[in-house]
Amino acid sequence: MTKTILRALKGEVLPTPPIWMMRQAGRYLPEYRETRAKAGDFLTLCYTPELAAEVTLQPIRRYGFDAAILFADILLLPQALGPKLWFETGEGPRMETTDTPAQVANLRPTEAIHDTLSPVYETVRILARELPRETTLIGFAGAPWTVATYMVGGRGSKDQAAAHDLKAQDRPTFEALIERITEATIEYLSAQIQAGAEVVKLFDSWAGSLKGQDFRDFAEAPAARIIAALKARHPGIPVIAFPREAGQGYIGFAHRTGADCVAIDNSVSPEWAAANVQVDGCVQGNLAPEHLVTGGQALVAATRHVVRAFSKGPHIFNLGHGITPEASPEHVQLMIDTVRGG
Ligand code: CP3
Repeated sequence: MTKTILRALKGEVLPTPPIWMMRQAGRYLPEYRETRAKAGDFLTLCYTPELAAEVTLQPIRRYGFDAAILFADILLLPQALGPKLWFETGEGPRMETTDTPAQVANLRPTEAIHDTLSPVYETVRILARELPRETTLIGFAGAPWTVATYMVGGRGSKDQAAAHDLKAQDRPTFEALIERITEATIEYLSAQIQAGAEVVKLFDSWAGSLKGQDFRDFAEAPAARIIAALKARHPGIPVIAFPREAGQGYIGFAHRTGADCVAIDNSVSPEWAAANVQVDGCVQGNLAPEHLVTGGQALVAATRHVVRAFSKGPHIFNLGHGITPEASPEHVQLMIDTVRGG
């Protein structure tokens, strides 16, 4: 019996959509907070395979989600290319900036990434052994543009101004950086697949700030290259692309990049996404994560709405963005019961 997520990714319309949740291993779960406290800090948790595997398994044990997503972070890959990475408590990630020709030229060679990232592959191997047979293991990486915004800016920002400035003022350096990240991402995801990931997902969280030709050059083109390289090396491996807040850019994205599934954020309606994106194949999404904070009848109604809107085509139920620390574990159970029970 093929796993439900893999069936949906092949285009099958299932009576009940398979379900998992972005950030399903996270601070809303008491067992996550306990393991995180044991690790001491977030990066130690990411680089300790037994603990990273443990937090990946926690939401599977508690809820029986149809997929587990490797516990790691999109910023581990740029860190493996050289720049220092740390997390400021309550503020998010900080990185040594990479925005000059010399800094891009001095990034470590692609093949050196495995020195830093081998614990991540070990986490994947543990999970491939320990997950229930019906659960799909998803690996992931950040898409080049989103990773570049953190490398150039040294931190997250609402408008990604630093990366947009570099793109405008020193295009060759910006393009060289995108190129380096693209090559490294191919090797990183390929190693995750070799270790046992059955699906990979590309998170382009800031794709929405790329407009027109920039969207084609820096969201679509790198995704297309990564997907083509992975499919050449690992025939049949499904890829989920998440060009978050792409808006009209979602239309035809699967077709232009070769992605098997497009994940949709909750700034667009499920009806719009069904009519414009699901026509090309599987979609994933797109319940607003806020419903898992508020719960109640509004959660039930919104969950049913998403299920119904996507019911005529291949669909993987998910949120439009990651679950927040304020969400309640009971509301997650209510969402799952609603998806599975009607
Ligand atoms: O979905 C999953 O649970 C898999 C693991 C995962 C994490 N981050 C764990 C994490 C994945 C896929 C990511 C992706 C990620 N990381 C993105 C792209 C998706 C998105 O959410 O937009 C980005 C932009 C990052 C960078 C990052 N990592 C930020 C901005 C932060 C701080 C924000 C926050 O929630 O605190 C992180 C930290 C992070 N990554 C946490 C988790 C569970 C919280 C760390 C903690 O335990 O304190």
